[in-house]
Amino acid sequence: MKIAANAATLLLAMAFLVQPAVAEGDAEAGEKLGYTCLGCHGIEGYRNAYPSYRVPKLGGQKAGYLVIALKGYRSGERSHPTMQAQATSMSDQEIEDVAAYLASLGGDTVASGGSEAPPLEAAAACAACHGQNGISMNAAWPTLAGQYESYLKHALDQYRSGARKNAIMAAQAAIIAEEDVALLARYYANLNGLETTKVD
Ligand code: HEC
Ligand code: HEC
Repeated sequence: MKIAANAATLLLAMAFLVQPAVAEGDAEAGEKLGYTCLGCHGIEGYRNAYPSYRVPKLGGQKAGYLVIALKGYRSGERSHPTMQAQATSMSDQEIEDVAAYLASLGGDTVASGGSEAPPLEAAAACAACHGQNGISMNAAWPTLAGQYESYLKHALDQYRSGARKNAIMAAQAAIIAEEDVALLARYYANLNGLETTKVD
């Protein structure tokens, strides 16, 4: 009994830690909003034109991170013309809803992660936040497992150049050896995890 009670307290504490700032997202409402996203995020291997990299997978991504990313585009803190245009008209509640919907996709692979990929030494430093299997440890941090290799490489390059600003990742990216950037992108892309957002 005592163990169960402690576990419940711990779960409750964890729930508070990851609690979003506004009302919890409604995945059902988010599904309708998510329709407009499919034109790019719902097509396997769809590319951003300049520079050329694949439009990131969102299916099974952490809800808290999706909210942060969308608000970043909306405020202009994170720059990308198309995504800024997508996010400007979204309310806080719509962002929460679409994030809840996207996070609910992906199912089992995202929960379990893992793969047959041999461990990569350079990834040891990332595991504390992004997880041993590339499934992140906190709703506010992105899952990397299964994301497109070209997008992961693009994101790391952006943190390294300062084009994408985030204090935590700027520090992390700065200490990655040049030759490890491509290896890390390939490593995480090959783990089981994120999925392309698809229409049922
Ligand atoms: C016209 C194509 C297009 C449409 C439509 C679109 N996106 Fe995007 N989205 C992109 C591209 C390209 C990127 C990568 C931008 C970058 O490099 O920052 C992106 C990035 C994102 C990211 C950041 C992912 C990450 O891992 O950091 C989120 C979240 C996102 N989009 C959500 C949405 C949502 C929600 C919608 C629908 C309301 C949507 N997008 C519609 C092209 C699109
Ligand atoms: C202390 C925690 C922490 C560590 C350690 C860490 N990261 Fe991150 N990472 C984050 C956070 C937080 C973000 C989201 C930042 C943002 O909003 O731009 C992120 C974002 C990323 C992204 C962008 C994902 C996306 O969908 O756009 C990549 C790629 C990434 N990290 C790779 C790595 C790699 C590779 C390492 C190890 C060398 C690493 N990270 C170590 C916390 C961490």
